Amino acid sequence: MTTTPQRVGAATRTMLANGQVLEDIVQPDEGLISRRIYSDPEIFEMEKERLFAKGWFFVGHDSEIPEPGDVITRIVGMDPALFVRDDDGEIRVFLNSCRHRGMRVCRTDRENTSFLRCSYHGWVYKNTGDLVSVQGESFYGEDELQKEKFGLIPVAKLGSYHGLVFATWDPEAPEFDEFLGDMKYYLDIIMNRTGGMKVVGTPQIWEAETGWKFSADNFTDNFHVYFAHHSLVELGMLPNDPDFAGRGELIVAEEGHILHITAGAPTDEYRYMGLPQQLRDKFPEHLDAEQVEMAKGLAYSAGTVFPNFHWMQLMSSGTIGQSDVPFLNLRLEVPVSPTRSRMWSWLLIDKDADPEYAKASYETYVRTFGPAGIYDQDDMENWEDCTRMSLGPAARQNTMHHRMGLHRPVDKTWPGPGSAYDVAYGEMTQRSWYSAWLNFMTQGWAGRKTMDEGQTR
Ligand code: FES
Ligand code: FE
Repeated sequence: MTTTPQRVGAATRTMLANGQVLEDIVQPDEGLISRRIYSDPEIFEMEKERLFAKGWFFVGHDSEIPEPGDVITRIVGMDPALFVRDDDGEIRVFLNSCRHRGMRVCRTDRENTSFLRCSYHGWVYKNTGDLVSVQGESFYGEDELQKEKFGLIPVAKLGSYHGLVFATWDPEAPEFDEFLGDMKYYLDIIMNRTGGMKVVGTPQIWEAETGWKFSADNFTDNFHVYFAHHSLVELGMLPNDPDFAGRGELIVAEEGHILHITAGAPTDEYRYMGLPQQLRDKFPEHLDAEQVEMAKGLAYSAGTVFPNFHWMQLMSSGTIGQSDVPFLNLRLEVPVSPTRSRMWSWLLIDKDADPEYAKASYETYVRTFGPAGIYDQDDMENWEDCTRMSLGPAARQNTMHHRMGLHRPVDKTWPGPGSAYDVAYGEMTQRSWYSAWLNFMTQGWAGRKTMDEGQTR
């Protein structure tokens, strides 16, 4: 079905089976991206090997495994994984696959246990990953079973920031702290504004008939809000103002990480993410003065840690006639096939939030986002149709258009790290993401660039 892409000529010419060169059909600096990359099986196979086997991927939040012995099942990149707090309290992440014949070791979503027994032939692993017991051990001769060599397969590296746990299968990957770079400044505001967040309930998981990159692309797209979600405008749940989501700042950080900080309307209701005064009062304890000032003008923010982890800090009305309530949603889209993706969606609430606000935030999130939420229903229809409409041989010859703001200068007055643009409608962030994607696909970690001011990478 697919041919291994080859480098031709210069080091960054990556030829596809039909003779096209990836660097020619994906032109982030021009804002022209081939439709092929969203659904093509050959490119999907390249993504598996080059991106999903190598990158840093979100595993979960440490509040999801608070107790020693907690085990939950996750995906790291595209591989099933175990997110574990061992009996000594250490967080570990393993491939959820037995070393004997590969059976799934943990077959539930979550449990609390010191040992995991494989249901096929009964090999038993401690929650440190060590293989501790093998049924019928006496039938193995000398050197036939070396238990110390066949523990669960751990990820190559683990990293965390404000409770967000990431992992990579690639021992050559940079350390997580270095990879996160500039984004730590903005994650402080989102994840540590009041001293920490906790996950509420379990993540919602569902699948959609879309290439995963349509979802990733959409998480930095403010431009669609007034149009795609117009039913909410008509119901009075979003302001009737076409530029409402356009006031703010687009920020391009290093490594393909991107975000926006959007102001909403200039009223007190929209300041400090719309959080209640009890929580606003805590900001100066946990953020520096510059970050607090930035949070003052922040009503909404969506950000991406390359390639597929997103946050959404939003305020929305969850019920017609009700005022807006803020919530923080974390999101992951995991490829299942070239045209199918599994969505993971978490709700987080400030640890110190009072119960009344926490309940209102929870209710607003479930009514508006997730598989039954109004916003996600609108978005899913667009992502699925964009996927279907780009499958045909004629459509695949064409590009997507990502040129908005191509010539807009960098906002040199922006106090935070990264290159910022003083507008929240623009496709600078997408262009930077596709540039990081292209570099990764063609050069792996060797394609990393520290971003110079005013440049996308
Ligand atoms: Fe797990 Fe055989 S596959 S014990
Ligand atoms: Fe949307």
